[in-house]
Amino acid sequence: MKKNDEIELEIIDNGINLEGIARHENKVVFIPGAIKGERILTKIIKVNNSFCIGKMIDIVSKNNSRVDPICGAYKRCGGCSGQHIEYNSQLQIKKELVKNTLAKQKLKYAGLDNVIGMGVPLYYRNKAQYPVRRTVEGENKLGFYAKRSHDIIENEECFIQNQEIDRMSKEVFKLLLLKGFVGYNEEDNTGDIRHILIRRGYYTGEMMIVIIVNKEDIFTDVRMEEIVNILKDNENIKSIILNLNTSKTNEILGKEEKILYGSGYIKDYIGDYKYYISSKSFFQVNTVQAEVLYNVLKEKLELNGDEILFDLYSGVGSIGIFLSDSVKKLYGIEIEEQAVKMANMNIELNNVDNAEYIAGSVESKIVEYQKRDIHPDVIVVDPPRKGLDLESIEYIINFKPKKVGYVSCSPATFARDLKILSQYYNVGVVTPVDLFPNSEHIENVVVLTLK
Ligand SMILES: C[S@@+](CC[C@H](N)C(=O)[O-])C[C@H]1O[C@@H](n2cnc3c(N)ncnc32)[C@H](O)[C@@H]1O
Repeated sequence: MKKNDEIELEIIDNGINLEGIARHENKVVFIPGAIKGERILTKIIKVNNSFCIGKMIDIVSKNNSRVDPICGAYKRCGGCSGQHIEYNSQLQIKKELVKNTLAKQKLKYAGLDNVIGMGVPLYYRNKAQYPVRRTVEGENKLGFYAKRSHDIIENEECFIQNQEIDRMSKEVFKLLLLKGFVGYNEEDNTGDIRHILIRRGYYTGEMMIVIIVNKEDIFTDVRMEEIVNILKDNENIKSIILNLNTSKTNEILGKEEKILYGSGYIKDYIGDYKYYISSKSFFQVNTVQAEVLYNVLKEKLELNGDEILFDLYSGVGSIGIFLSDSVKKLYGIEIEEQAVKMANMNIELNNVDNAEYIAGSVESKIVEYQKRDIHPDVIVVDPPRKGLDLESIEYIINFKPKKVGYVSCSPATFARDLKILSQYYNVGVVTPVDLFPNSEHIENVVVLTLK
């Protein structure tokens, strides 16, 4: 097989990015946009030692689950890799992916539920971060990054984004241009505006606008005040923040911030609980499905009200506070200081009097609880995609909690960590919850019980 070959291939599986997988001449061929069971006329565009990348030229035989993507930008945008697959089939494919990932670790576990999907799997994202760029021709663009690149796709409408966020981003962009600001140029690190980040409370409608700028003097630029004066007429806008990022990295937010208007945070609900959310704090992007996820966790944990609970990687305290009425005492650890501030405010907001959240990494702070002779009966972990580090796993094992609830957005690291924990714990039924319809991502939750 060599570059530019055109071959008809049978798709035998779907991969972790929902791409089709075929085998040819002892090599795996990844074909974005192809679905298991299809025959695809494929053009080989990249050849590597162990695998090739192919491009769909023609669908020779079609899977029944293939649908026309609703978004005009689907082919170019990196956001919705599954929009060509009917939603129930997306859920089946994601289940299969989780099953295969767990099988790779030869993990013993009690079973795998069907993926819990979303009623209406559109317009669900409560947060968006739009790059603002200036081309060499001097044209300013707002949109999303194209697949595997930093080219901007200016889309008319995003079908997974909340529509009000989409509309507001365009309004803010127009105002910025009107006042003479220009987009960022990555090549030479020039320009004014790098990103517009918008968060919106799903239930409250409250909005936060964060304008990420490339120059410190924009913090005191009178034109920003003029923009704020226009925007604040919209009563749903509760916070307008400037964030400074002068680095040449892909990081969106910089360290320094200036609140131009409002409190610096918005409020939203998950179930009966209220949460303050700031610009830098993590909050699940799909509020409706987050509630489903937390309820599954709560049910699986079967708390009796007497437990000491550790909420690790806690964000704004969303999981801990959601479980707080079923435990005796709640302790949380989170690395992002702004999120910890929110978590401690959220305790008060929800009249939770049995909780405390501390700032720092789990691996460095968990020992403080040991020193204070605080021993958890239950630990809930919800780490970022890289999963748990060995040090934290060791602490968890040494604490010997009766139960560990593991919430994860990365099936691979979830399976890897469960394999280690399964030496000491029985792994219960894994429940995948679709927090990211139309994308390749999937959330999983499981409860482990001490052997
Ligand atoms: C997937 S989020 C979960 C947040 C929260 N449990 C929720 O449901 O909204 C992971 C969180 O872990 C935090 N984090 C990342 N590395 C950490 C570490 N080493 N120690 C503590 N927190 C960390 C991130 O800032 C983020 O808030």
